[in-house]
Amino acid sequence: MIRTAVIPAAGLGTRFLPATKAVPKEMIPIIDKPTVQYIVEEAVQAGVRHIVFITGRNKSAIANHFDYQPELERHLREKGKEEELASVRCMVEGVAYSFIRQNEPRGLGHAVLCARHVIGEDEPFAVMLGDDVMVSSEPVLGQMIYQYEQIGAPLIALEEVAPDAVNRYGIVDGVRMGQQLFKLSELVEKPSIGESPSNLAIMGRYILDPRIFELIEQTGSGAGGEIQLTDALRQYPEIYGFKYSGKRYDAGNKLEFLKAVVEFALARDEFRDPFRAYLKSLDL
Ligand code: G1P
Repeated sequence: MIRTAVIPAAGLGTRFLPATKAVPKEMIPIIDKPTVQYIVEEAVQAGVRHIVFITGRNKSAIANHFDYQPELERHLREKGKEEELASVRCMVEGVAYSFIRQNEPRGLGHAVLCARHVIGEDEPFAVMLGDDVMVSSEPVLGQMIYQYEQIGAPLIALEEVAPDAVNRYGIVDGVRMGQQLFKLSELVEKPSIGESPSNLAIMGRYILDPRIFELIEQTGSGAGGEIQLTDALRQYPEIYGFKYSGKRYDAGNKLEFLKAVVEFALARDEFRDPFRAYLKSLDL
């Protein structure tokens, strides 16, 4: 039912300098896969077949990553490196990629608005933020699509955060409708600590419909002087939040990124035992 996912990827990645001077932050790997590949894999597992990247200057590595690389593929085939060959092809087959340039960095709401002409006026679509890498037995986006099919209204992912972290997120308030579902009455982008309506934070997965484009157009600058998606979402007559099952890693934060690398390594068969032994040998 949700065939298209929009992935905003125009940011300058200043939190990861100097690495992001020449390499897009979306291409920084957790072990051997760029963070953005984890996001795309989640989308594809949830049934998405069209990825729309909103990019900016210096982001061509993302387009190259999600394209064929005939020279490399021929080399791997000749050397009989089947596993490596499969790993470089898997993200290309059966998935279409579109790239739209966001010419000015005017905020997340503006980035989503850039997808308008590709999305059209008929179909709901997903928005996935590249900094939020999710691990779950059922893809978080898949859980949300299932929920969306039940309620038929826009839906955003939620997670509780520490009270002293609310100023880093969009925060919501609402009425609990089920174990994981909330009907939202308030959405505020990056409230001050002490003035937040709750500690239920928006995480980077949204299922929206084309009405959002009109709402973004009517939205002025908000937190940080940017056109915020949260401010446009607040204008929907009805919007829901979903507390997903799974774990989220903030790949935009260095310490959290480091934790992700360690946990992803411990979850991989090839690294689990030797890496655990190494960590123990550090005798911390
Ligand atoms: C964005 C959204 C915010 C959300 C967050 C989740 O903020 O604007 O509402 O809580 O992603 O990661 P950003 O991290 O881009 O400042």
